[in-house]
Amino acid sequence: MKPSRKLPAIRVANSGVVRLKSVPDLPDGNLFIAEVKREVPFPIKRVYFINSLANPRAVRGRHAHRKLEQVIFCVSGSFVLHLDDGRKKQRLRLHEPAIGIRLGPRLWHTMSDFSYDCVILVLAAERYDEKDYIRDYAEFRRLVRR
Ligand code: TYD
Repeated sequence: MKPSRKLPAIRVANSGVVRLKSVPDLPDGNLFIAEVKREVPFPIKRVYFINSLANPRAVRGRHAHRKLEQVIFCVSGSFVLHLDDGRKKQRLRLHEPAIGIRLGPRLWHTMSDFSYDCVILVLAAERYDEKDYIRDYAEFRRLVRR
């Protein structure tokens, strides 16, 4: 997909755009850099990535976090990120490795429409803690509407 220079306009709460430093060196590759306090607004305690999204109808996420801060990137291919802060909803197609979306607390997020070559990278501010997850949408709505 042709890269666009325009940053997505984020309308939901507790989100935003993170743009990585990039050092293009084509045809010998592109280098992307995520440095704490420069590109990434929190100290990183965990990194995870998702690959082999061979099922184009796969749906991931479908949860929010109570406190966790994360930034999500599509480092290869593309996918659609659905964001819902309990009041507003937004749908973004991620396809540029340098453009990450902040997933702050109380932001219901779902990922779908993965291209065959999609690789998702997530930088997280805390280690894994299942207690921080809100996996029930009705519970999420109650929490954000309080
Ligand atoms: P989950 O966060 O629900 O995946 P996704 O949002 O991509 O659909 O996690 C799936 C499983 O992996 C779940 O059983 C918890 C486990 N997991 C860890 O053990 N550590 C982690 O850092 C993450 C992100 C998930």
